[in-house]
Amino acid sequence: MSESPKKLYIKTYGCQMNVYDSEKMADILGPHRYELTDDPTSSDMVILNTCHIREKATEKVYSEIGRYQSLKKERTAEGRQFILAVAGCVGQAEGGEIIKRAPYVDIVLGPQAYHKLPEMIERATRAFHINQMDKKKGKEYRKDKIVYADFPVESKFDHIPAVSDNPRVSAFLTIQEGCDKFCTFCCVPYTRGAEYSRPVGDIVAEAKRYVALGAKEITLLGQNVNAYHGISQSGQGVWGLGPLCLELSNIEGLERLRYMTSHPKDMDDALIQAHGDSPKLMPFLHLPVQSGSDAILKLMNRKHTVAFYEEVIQKLRHVRPDIGFSSDFIVGFPGETEKDFEDTLSLVERVQYGQAYCFSYSRRPGTPAAGIETQVDEEIKKERLQRLQTLIHAQQESFNQSFLGKSIPVLFERQGKRADQYLGKSPHMQSVHILSNGDNIMGQVHEIKVIEAFDNSLKGELQ
Ligand code: SAH
Ligand code: SF4
Ligand code: F3S
Repeated sequence: MSESPKKLYIKTYGCQMNVYDSEKMADILGPHRYELTDDPTSSDMVILNTCHIREKATEKVYSEIGRYQSLKKERTAEGRQFILAVAGCVGQAEGGEIIKRAPYVDIVLGPQAYHKLPEMIERATRAFHINQMDKKKGKEYRKDKIVYADFPVESKFDHIPAVSDNPRVSAFLTIQEGCDKFCTFCCVPYTRGAEYSRPVGDIVAEAKRYVALGAKEITLLGQNVNAYHGISQSGQGVWGLGPLCLELSNIEGLERLRYMTSHPKDMDDALIQAHGDSPKLMPFLHLPVQSGSDAILKLMNRKHTVAFYEEVIQKLRHVRPDIGFSSDFIVGFPGETEKDFEDTLSLVERVQYGQAYCFSYSRRPGTPAAGIETQVDEEIKKERLQRLQTLIHAQQESFNQSFLGKSIPVLFERQGKRADQYLGKSPHMQSVHILSNGDNIMGQVHEIKVIEAFDNSLKGELQ
């Protein structure tokens, strides 16, 4: 076998947790002599880290898998191994089905199994060599496929290298996985499994390592991040997200803290108060409500009412008056009437979001809502989606306009196309671009004055 490092290409779909997982998969494979590349055609292994949340997302994965069929054929003809792995939520949901549909896939693994990758690669490599030898002897090509879509007993977090040495100004840190909420439209409880919280000590240690590597901002991740309930550092008792945020706020050098995605029902008073007590907790919260109709929220099994949601928003605004919000909305959930939809529009009018993501309801096999008979017509869904998006768009624009002329602190994360252009984020998650005065401001927080506001970004100048 060649001693030179092998090339690994990872394509990530879906949510931030997949971004974090992709990084960890690269970390795990580093010691096995896999180096990341941006070019799939020259790679020795491709991992597609997939998302199952909507039908379109899943179909995208299948068309992407198809693109590697000819590469695989070419390589096999040359006697070289090329491994195609499907990881993530489609891997979990579809398991062996993927190999039935696309037999040239070698490995399928769910999001809880990525620490098993080296073992799976070893098996795939062994199978490849045996197949090659058999082929020379004129024997039929055997398929040896590896599928790992169980939920392993041990936690993947105990098996992954502690931290990537890849410096990041803004780092993701998964603190919680899985979901026990079972919203009737959602596949996540089935793809990510039951809720699990990492111990406080492990999170603090990982956060400190990111900061030592230069991170100024950490975003705590979880499918249901504010359901967090991890064992405390002393081993006595369990902490919620509020105390965890306060603890992490003590890390010197860390300037900004965020968390996502939260469920309204789990916004407890300690977490709300943390927004008042820690200036490091940024004043922008993604708090998905999905619908503004109590009847639909009930059918969705969201476990809260519209009034409860607005009360949470009000409490947050009380402790942190400058806080802004974003949300996810689903339009055309089975049974949604025009009146239900108008209730969603009214809620949006009352809250005034800084940003929001609107989705047309997509039937996910195996979820309770997929079986409801009163599915909404596609045309109606499309029309409602457009109306909601128009409203959200207008709010986003006026939210950004309200910053015009103001001075805001921006964390600069990237250099733009021009060498003197820098891109960063405001406390309210707005993308900000500026032209620097020649100094390198990467990784720093600077006060800037907003000189132009667009629907998706702000233009500023250094103060
Ligand atoms: N855990 C988060 C969100 C996870 S999925 C929460 O509880 O809010 C991200 C978003 O995808 C959801 O908020 C929802 O708006 C959307 N989504 C999930 N399932 C969907 C489906 N079947 N059809 C359309 N949108 C869906
Ligand atoms: Fe899905 Fe609901 Fe869990 Fe969010 S809270 S991941 S929408 S089941
Ligand atoms: Fe998609 Fe799985 Fe995230 S379904 S949204 S990648 S948890």
